[in-house]
Order: sequence, then structure tokens, then C-alpha cells
Amino acid sequence: EKAGYDYFMLKEIAEQPKAVADTLLGRIDGSGTLSLDEVRIPARVLREVGKVVIVACGTAFHAGLIAKYAIEHWTRVPCEVELASEFRYRDPILDQQTLVVAISQSGETMDTLMALRHAREQGAKVLAICNTNGSTIPRESDAVLYTHAGPEVAVASTKAFLTQLVACYLVALYLGQVRGTKYGDEIRDVVRDLSRISGAVEQVLETMEPVRELARSLAHKNTVLFLGRHVGHPVALEGALKLKELAYMHAEGFAAGELKHGPIALIEEDLPVVVVVPSPRGRSVIHDKIVSNIQEIRARGARTIVIAEEGDEAVVPYADHLVRVPATPTLLQPLVATVPLQVFACELATARGNEVDQPRNLAKSVTVE
Ligand code: M6R
Repeated sequence: EKAGYDYFMLKEIAEQPKAVADTLLGRIDGSGTLSLDEVRIPARVLREVGKVVIVACGTAFHAGLIAKYAIEHWTRVPCEVELASEFRYRDPILDQQTLVVAISQSGETMDTLMALRHAREQGAKVLAICNTNGSTIPRESDAVLYTHAGPEVAVASTKAFLTQLVACYLVALYLGQVRGTKYGDEIRDVVRDLSRISGAVEQVLETMEPVRELARSLAHKNTVLFLGRHVGHPVALEGALKLKELAYMHAEGFAAGELKHGPIALIEEDLPVVVVVPSPRGRSVIHDKIVSNIQEIRARGARTIVIAEEGDEAVVPYADHLVRVPATPTLLQPLVATVPLQVFACELATARGNEVDQPRNLAKSVTVE
């Protein structure tokens, strides 16, 4: 069943280009228009949506954090993202113009299910993004957009995450398309880029040997920090989560801009710090700021592991280890930037002798609150 791989996780990491392509299949036509009739929420209702609220847990929550950037940019509709376990306990403000998006690989996560039940009780419409046909979350939602990652067996979520991102981009772009924002041209371009993105994921997978080697060399470390900015921030959080659950190491993700507000005190000689660098094109101000963050932490002795787009030369002088990812539109970068972090965590777990597919204390789907 593992198709020659030692672990399901390795197989599932390798399946990501196909999972991404399958999730896009039939949803984009040749002219760059999205057809998401399957969502079954009438365009009229989508045009009236006043607020989007995303609820999810763990890795799916990180997909939601990235979705917020895409939704607010392309649709100009305010979007909140909340941990499903916190949602209903704070008496959230919801009404019939609220679109709640519940993201769940398994479709059985109790925290997410309780959040969506609460949302529906308040009159909100719920759209599920789910990988498991006929599971409880899509059954109890008003509409569903399935991810087509295929069964994910390893406890650590990999291919499901990438397909959740694709589904989130589709929802954001579709909402933008239906509502007709000033980003119409950009939306058409991004839809085309998205339709080619599985090739970029494949390209990343082909260049992962140095990342594996690096991971093995860090197996004795206690702590790894992850920094990112813009959509790179949730990617950093996801990299840290993978490392915690697989390698049982202390790992933390920060927004790079927060460094100076506290976390920089953690930097010490030879501490590995992974930095996810946004594209130098587009939001170049953010890019320049993160380059100076890398400079700052390196000056304090950190061992910098830099994930940066091909052709980004500004990072070269400050990177102890440089991992290249293909150039993508800014908002799509998480689809390529997350992959090296998955490989890194998986290899570190193996080097530390941990059970990769079944980390201690964890279950694949968490059906208790
Ligand atoms: O099945 P779900 O997507 O609802 O699961 C949510 C989380 O439990 C899940 O993503 C968890 O964080 C993973 N083990 C992370 O790798």
C-alpha cells in the first residue's frame, strides 16, 4: 500500500502534484473562468455575502489563515479566521450575510463540527472544504467543495493541506469572479497560473535531497524557529507544527515583523531559523524587510535556512542554507514553500528514530472536543 515508500507520509508528499491537479480538474475552463456550480450556493447569495468566517483546526487552520489573504485581496470582503475550538465559546457575531467556511480533511473533527453547527444555528451559510466524501461536516453544511487529495493515512497532513489551499484559492477567486471586483484581470491571470501550479510542486520535490541532508545534520538540536511574513507567516506556522508533531522538537513560527517585539531574544549561536521569503516581485517592501530580518538574526549567530524564490539574489549573502522554490504569484507561494518544510520535518523525525506515520499521542482524526 505504501507503493515502495518507507512511510505513508513520504508517499503522500510525493503525491502532491497529482492531488493539486486533481483538485483543480474540471473547475477551470480553457479561458481562465472558474465553474464551481457544484458549490450550489446561488451567485445572488454570494454577491450579498458581507463577511467570511473560516473555522478549522491544526493544519486546516493554517490553510484558512492563507485563505484570508486571498479572500480579502481578490474579493474585498472582510474575512476572519478562527480556531474551531474557540469559535462558539466567544459568542461570535454571525448573520444570514455571513459565509462560514469549515475546512477539514477528515470531515469528522468534532471542534470544527461544533463550530459549524453553531454557525448554522445563528443563520449563517456554511461551505465545507473537505477531503472525505459523505463525512459528517459536508453532510451538515449547506454546500461542499471537495478536495481530491485521495485518502491521507499519515497523521501529519501534507497533500490534504496543499489541496485545501487550492480549494481556498478557488473559493476566493470564484467569489471575486461572481462579485466582479476591480481585480478581474488579475483573477484571470492567477486562475491560469493556478492551472499550471502542479508542475511547480513537482519541481520542488525533485530538488529535496539537500533539505534531507540538512535535516539529518540537525537531528541533535532541541529548537528550530520559523519566520515568515504575509502568506509566509502561516507557512512558518505550518512548518513549526510539522516539526512538533513529527520530530517532537520545540518549534515555533513567528511573523517576521514581530521579531523585534520579543522573539529576537531567543536567537543564539547556531540556532536553526527557517525563513520563508516572499516573492521580491509584487510586494517588494515586505521582501526587503524580511531580508533585513535575516541579516539581523544572522548577525546574532542564527543558522539561517532560507526558502526563497528562484532568481532572488538579495538573500544569498545571508543564507547559510538556501532552498529554492519556483517563482509563483505572491498569494500562491505557500503551495511551493510548504513542501520543503514537510520534507524537512519528515526527515528529522526519521533521523531521530520517531514513528513517522503515527506520532505519539496523536490520532488522525480528532472526534472529541
Ligand atoms: O481532519 P481535519 O482537517 O479536520 O484535522 C484537523 C487537524 O486535526 C489536523 O490538521 C492536524 O493538525 C494534523 N495532524 C496536522 O498535521
